[in-house]
Amino acid sequence: MRIDIISVVPNLLESPFNHSIVKRAKDKGLVEIVVHDLREYGLGNYKQIDDTQFGGGAGMVMMIEPIVNCIKKLQLQRSYDEIIYMTPDAQTLNQATANTLSLKENIVILTGHYKGVDQRIRDKYITKEISIGDYVLTGGELAAAVLVDATIRLIPGVIGDEQSALTDSFQDNLLSPPVYTRPANFEGMKVPDILLSGNFPKIEDWRSDKAYERTQQIRPDLLNE
Ligand code: ADE
Repeated sequence: MRIDIISVVPNLLESPFNHSIVKRAKDKGLVEIVVHDLREYGLGNYKQIDDTQFGGGAGMVMMIEPIVNCIKKLQLQRSYDEIIYMTPDAQTLNQATANTLSLKENIVILTGHYKGVDQRIRDKYITKEISIGDYVLTGGELAAAVLVDATIRLIPGVIGDEQSALTDSFQDNLLSPPVYTRPANFEGMKVPDILLSGNFPKIEDWRSDKAYERTQQIRPDLLNE
């Protein structure tokens, strides 16, 4: 999978993709992530990328031309399955979206700043808009990092134990059951006996019950989806 990210603050995206599982996925050739500095497509001597909004009002708007020039250059090199815009005024990211995206070959992610991008980019070029939650970040970069992380860990081979992605929270619209490791007794706090029993069918039943209980308590909305 190849992911091209368009950003005005490309440095913000250096750390999230250069450690741990994401880095290993890149090293193994399972994913290629390329960050493009939108400023390089800016207009004139000052490399302008934003301007005041028509109709007045506070805040700058990201201009159409630099973004379209960047997208067009990318499209000359390959075709893209999705051009995604990260913005708080969109559908919220969930596991189903991450699952779908993990099957794509090439995607572009556009990250917004200021008041957002000129609506005409959204109308003509963007194929999907994604928010990571009902709050406003200073820019879309951290949201893009979240989207990329959630997506690429689902690509086969990215996490060692494939089973573990399949049993994640949300994969079946349930939260995960509680997990424990050694010691079995810490200052009188004991691990549930069932987990030490070796009876794996019973352990699976217990985990399903706990996942359901937890979901009902914390996120009952998931049970109605
Ligand atoms: N940009 C700013 N806030 C955002 C959010 N919540 N989700 C996606 N992109 C954003």
